[in-house]
Amino acid sequence: MMTQDQLKQQAAQAALDVVLPQLQPDSVLGVGTGSTVDHFIDLLATHRDAFRAAVSSSERSTQRLQAAGIQVLDLNQVSTLPFYVDGADEVDHQLNLIKGGGGALTREKIVASVADRFVCIVDESKLVEALGRFPLPIEIIPLAREAVAREIRQLGGRPQLREGFITDNGNQILDVAGLAYDNRPAEFEALINNIPGVVTCGLFAIAGAHLALVAGQEGIARLELQD
Ligand code: 5RP
Repeated sequence: MMTQDQLKQQAAQAALDVVLPQLQPDSVLGVGTGSTVDHFIDLLATHRDAFRAAVSSSERSTQRLQAAGIQVLDLNQVSTLPFYVDGADEVDHQLNLIKGGGGALTREKIVASVADRFVCIVDESKLVEALGRFPLPIEIIPLAREAVAREIRQLGGRPQLREGFITDNGNQILDVAGLAYDNRPAEFEALINNIPGVVTCGLFAIAGAHLALVAGQEGIARLELQD
């Protein structure tokens, strides 16, 4: 029986198997944030000559990439990323995601938006029939905290400030329990992102993942939407 951390390591290895054969010496890879991605970065370290550099979605991942001898570029220096590899807190079968458990959701969404393909790596505990059990992280401008919280309550959510946490962008996070997306996560994403003071919410549904690699006791399940 593999532990959750061993399953995360398996998912990271599966992502490396997908990505590595397609990288060129001048490729720049988008890299997400979290404990699953930490495994991916550790695996990448032994292949650092197979690609040029990475763009990172957090200070945490930047430090780990640089410690592994991988060059980290600013996103402004890069116009194309063949892949973005990242974990998630929830994934549904349409490859909609909830992200932001690690608080890096805004940079994650930005880097993902530039990539040709978002490869999501998770252990099987993250795969759900419908998004909504994991409290939705929302990055907010601190001045707007109470104003945003009131709007969120109107939507049926129960916002809670992530105490003592400041994002890499200098903002705060509200974790919101109790939201029901009614199978319309993209509509909710737009609605929440539209509240003044919200930087972004952790729903990745307007643009979800292209491929999810889900590690379970029986092996890797590959979820991919047909075009
Ligand atoms: C960070 C994220 C992570 O991808 C998400 O929290 C999953 O983390 P882990 O791989 O540690 O389970 O969205 O903002």
